[in-house]
Amino acid sequence: MGKSKVLVVGGTGYLGKRIVRASLANGHPTYVLHRREIGVDIEKVQMLLSFKDQGARLLEGSFSDHRSLVDAVSQVDVVVCTISGVHIRSHQILLQLKLVEAIKQAGNIKRFLPSEFGTDPARMGHALEPGRVTFDDKMVVRKAIEEANIPFTYVSANCFAGYFVGGLCQPGHIVPSRESVCLHGDGNVKGIYVDEDDIATYTIKMVDDPRTLNKTVYIRPPENILAEGGGGGVGGSHRETACQDECLGGRIPV
Ligand SMILES: NC(=O)c1ccc[n+]([C@@H]2O[C@H](COP(=O)([O-])OP(=O)(O)OC[C@H]3O[C@@H](n4cnc5c(N)ncnc54)[C@H](OP(=O)(O)O)[C@@H]3O)[C@@H](O)[C@H]2O)c1
Repeated sequence: MGKSKVLVVGGTGYLGKRIVRASLANGHPTYVLHRREIGVDIEKVQMLLSFKDQGARLLEGSFSDHRSLVDAVSQVDVVVCTISGVHIRSHQILLQLKLVEAIKQAGNIKRFLPSEFGTDPARMGHALEPGRVTFDDKMVVRKAIEEANIPFTYVSANCFAGYFVGGLCQPGHIVPSRESVCLHGDGNVKGIYVDEDDIATYTIKMVDDPRTLNKTVYIRPPENILAEGGGGGVGGSHRETACQDECLGGRIPV
């Protein structure tokens, strides 16, 4: 049996472009949704053309044109969606309900991997505002997928290294402060930080793996489990630290 045809929706995004590259590198016939709305966004257009040069097929479509989404998903076996979902940047998770409708109507999709790639939202009922919208919306999408009986894999990638490690885990900061950092808890709380290219590779390895069908898959290599404070941790060499739970916008549930 050949490798599944993979359509990436959101393929010019931060994670999406890595998924496209991983899909091509792993020999999947790779399709990328080319949204009309990108218009003259020259960087996106050039990225799409470079994917085409590397063997990807571009499928035109739009979230505001149901028929175009149905036509696009009808041409592939697997859909990986990487639409934006960071409340301080861009957040369009619920747009995926339109994609779910299209997949349901097309009826041919063997696996849908919705835009997740973070902490498992099913375990985040206690999450604080303002970030919890991401978990809540991802749960809404999960419910729609499961009600439509669409085969799925949910990828829980924990923390993107680029978002968390560079800024020493300070929400909203991707470069380190020179003065102080807030440690979460006592600094020994562990987090899982994963390189985004690795997330893309693991994700593509899942699409044809029967063990991941209708499952949540956690990406947590043992070497990637780090504490923020102390030797060898994420913030190990910092000059000054402060332990303040208010930097999370509320009390930390214990
Ligand atoms: N675990 C973590 O630490 C972490 C960190 C960041 C993100 N994430 C998760 O990773 C996933 C992808 O996030 P990302 O940062 O890679 O996203 P992103 O780069 O901000 O955006 C990805 C794509 O979303 C599409 N998009 C944005 N606005 C749209 C709109 N109005 N209509 C249609 N499409 C739209 C665009 O697709 P086109 O390519 O078609 O233009 C864009 O390239 C999300 O689920 C997010 O929650 C996790």
